[in-house]
Amino acid sequence: MTLLGSNGAGKSTTLKTISGLVRARQGDVCLEGESIARLPAHQIARRGVVHVPEGRRVLRGLTVKENLELGAFTLKDNALRRQRLEEVYALFPILHERRHQDGSLLSGGQQQMLAMGRALMHGPSVMLLDEPSMGLAPKLVTEIMRIIKRLNEAGTTILLVEQNARLALRLAHYAYVIENGEIRMQGDAAAMREDAAVVKAYLGLGD
Ligand SMILES: Nc1ncnc2c1ncn2[C@@H]1O[C@H](COP(=O)(O)OP(=O)(O)O)[C@@H](O)[C@H]1O
Ligand SMILES: [Mg+2]
Repeated sequence: MTLLGSNGAGKSTTLKTISGLVRARQGDVCLEGESIARLPAHQIARRGVVHVPEGRRVLRGLTVKENLELGAFTLKDNALRRQRLEEVYALFPILHERRHQDGSLLSGGQQQMLAMGRALMHGPSVMLLDEPSMGLAPKLVTEIMRIIKRLNEAGTTILLVEQNARLALRLAHYAYVIENGEIRMQGDAAAMREDAAVVKAYLGLGD
């Protein structure tokens, strides 16, 4: 699913609340019927809800491989950790190529791949992606979106926050539009894409 809304609507805050980086003042966050709203962030991550924040946060001074391994530092099972690393490399061959380089030397698109790869090292069931296409060249945006689709098809639930509403509605099954931290509209993504009023009033796509 995708979460849309203008700048300052509360998209990032919603993701932070789900992943436990921000406490909900009211309401609840449920995972498979169970409340997770009071759990600390690391326990939420351990339950398979993994947040890829805005701005990527690649760690300087660590290699690409070390950045990835950091994503699985709680994993005691070495064989599983190696297997996940191989899976990430299969998904992002460029990370394998650059594995011994400092993570901060990667291009913007590669850093986004690294941030997603690090999240995948947790073996997530739910991925919260905050504007993964931000600042990327069109070709890389297409590549990242293709990978998001693949992850979803392989069974990972995706909550995608995007500035690029047109792109997000093409990818998602279901969409929410928020304004001032409140849901203004929700529905089938394909239907929303076709709805001229939605497009004009909420997405500002112009055509
Ligand atoms: N539900 C909310 N209630 C109160 N303040 C909120 C809520 N959601 C967001 N905010 C505040 O609004 C501002 C912008 O939120 P943010 O999540 O960064 O927006 P976005 O990611 O959509 O651009 C932040 O200062 C945040 O603290
Ligand atoms: Mg934001």
